[in-house]
Amino acid sequence: MKNKIAIAIDGPAAAGKSTVAKLVAEQMGYIYVDTGAMYRAITYVTIKNNISPDNSSAILNELKKSDITLTKEFDVFINGENVTDEIRSNEVTQLVSKIASIPEVRKEMVQRQQQLVRNRGIVMDGRDIGTHVIPDAEVKIFLIASVDERAIRRHSENKNKGIPSDVEKLKIEIAQRDKQDMERVTSPLKKAEDAIEIDTTQLSIKDVVNQIIKIVEQEV
Ligand code: CDP
Ligand code: CDP
Repeated sequence: MKNKIAIAIDGPAAAGKSTVAKLVAEQMGYIYVDTGAMYRAITYVTIKNNISPDNSSAILNELKKSDITLTKEFDVFINGENVTDEIRSNEVTQLVSKIASIPEVRKEMVQRQQQLVRNRGIVMDGRDIGTHVIPDAEVKIFLIASVDERAIRRHSENKNKGIPSDVEKLKIEIAQRDKQDMERVTSPLKKAEDAIEIDTTQLSIKDVVNQIIKIVEQEV
């Protein structure tokens, strides 16, 4: 029988992490965990409850009361409420990096994420998976792509969903979020020393998945 491992996929916004991670998980028969959805969920709760983004203790208090569930169908529930679409709103996207920079919030999230990793057979994507959440992951991938390409990807995704979209605005939003994620003090977005970097700018989703599967096959 094959060895079950943990696969950490990190990288900046819209590099293709979740798309590729889902496909790798499917191919391996592993579970997929989208840690960005967890930070988005607490950001949604903060906005919904009119809590100031600077009030870390109130946010942490809400997080402690929030049971965040990620389903196999990639739906997201907070205390039983389906918030799958709500957590992708512009309002949440604009605030999430600020909320995710609160050290106490990160500590709680990392603990929850590490509980999910106890049994291997997992693909987890985010910003600090290879560096903090699963530092002993057997495979660590760091996906990158140019900001232009990432903005174009998000733009076509929006268009397909019928959401109004502007490439130039997306470029600014993505660059700002990357900057915030890279400059925060607690577990910033950073390539783990032992991660393999894949520049996906010129690659199709299938190319990226195949490259990762090849790397994984050497470990299982
Ligand atoms: O999919 P997208 O690139 O828009 O972002 P996401 O993966 O949904 O993550 C949203 C935000 O959550 C990121 O910009 C980070 O601020 C934060 N995040 C984090 O700090 N650590 C993680 N492990 C995952 C996400
Ligand atoms: O999770 P992350 O924010 O890193 O990115 P994503 O949501 O998986 O990918 C953003 C968009 O780029 C999706 O619409 C993917 O279909 C697309 N994509 C692509 O066109 N080419 C790739 N090599 C990877 C993703």
